[in-house]
Amino acid sequence: MVRMNYSARFPYARPRRLRQSDWIRRLVRETTITPGDLIWSLVVHEGERDEIPVSAMPGVSRLSVAACAQAAKRARNLGIPAIAVFPFIDPAKKDAAGREALNPDGLVCRAVRAMKEAAPEVGVMVDVALDPFTDHGHDGLLRDGRILNDETVSVLVEQALIQVKAGADIVAPSDMMDGRVGAIREALEREGHQDTLIMSYAAKYASAFYGPYREAIGSGKLGAGSVANPGDKRTYQMDFGNADEALREVALDVAEGADMLLVKPGMPYLDIVRRVKDAFALPTFAFQVSGEYAMIMAAAQNGWLDADRAIIESLTAFKRAGADGVVTYFAPKAAEMLA
Ligand code: PBG
Repeated sequence: MVRMNYSARFPYARPRRLRQSDWIRRLVRETTITPGDLIWSLVVHEGERDEIPVSAMPGVSRLSVAACAQAAKRARNLGIPAIAVFPFIDPAKKDAAGREALNPDGLVCRAVRAMKEAAPEVGVMVDVALDPFTDHGHDGLLRDGRILNDETVSVLVEQALIQVKAGADIVAPSDMMDGRVGAIREALEREGHQDTLIMSYAAKYASAFYGPYREAIGSGKLGAGSVANPGDKRTYQMDFGNADEALREVALDVAEGADMLLVKPGMPYLDIVRRVKDAFALPTFAFQVSGEYAMIMAAAQNGWLDADRAIIESLTAFKRAGADGVVTYFAPKAAEMLA
């Protein structure tokens, strides 16, 4: 804890002295955001069109594989260290088991190869989860309306290995199955991928803030119907009322071999970022998710706030809360502003 040793009182102590002009404000600023703190989340699609706008996320488009390669070069030029890629899978390729996730020539693998070829200096992070590939939209396998944890983990291990063979530098399990980090780590070691990083979505909450992402990657309504499958992801993603549980989730993932931790969503969960960082002192990231992006852009389009200022303020807030970096759809725009 900081010791508050204010012996001076007003008028000798005047905190506004430190705010009187830009030079002194810059000099005493405790937290800054730089392009080096950003992971650019983007969506890739199968088609030839370079960009297909996502209506719920003004300014974000699904990119073709070729456009992803250009994006990687843009990231390099802007000083953005890494890109996280999410796929919009052709609905005709989806099934209940998400088999397309295991296609070594599938969309994610092609995008990874194209990006690593275009800009090998830029890190590429891939999502490990089945939701873009399943027709029911869940992150795992379903039987009789229940998510099958251990069977799902076996598939996720295969998915991770395929993506790593395509060139992914970081695998990021976002599925919230129990035991998947350890299983993936063991497989990576066994197959000679000891340098592959795991960024675990260690504390991922069942959240309304993922709404626009469903349009972005084209994952449908979750099939509702039973107690175990109530049409949302609450049997595997965390309850938003819980914070101690986040520390237990993180502890497990750290023990299983996670290199980096992710808290998701971002801004409503800054307390979790702070607690995770304080408790584990590991590289800790926050995901400024689709709904957070959409809120800022929608308000800005209505003239209700200044998007540029809100973007920099929100990104700085993540770092102030203890995050080492932020996964964000704003990455290129923010990096341009910060240049
Ligand atoms: C699913 C996944 C989700 C996001 C990233 N990976 C959605 C979900 O868990 O339902 C959300 C990203 C965003 O909202 O920006 N594996």
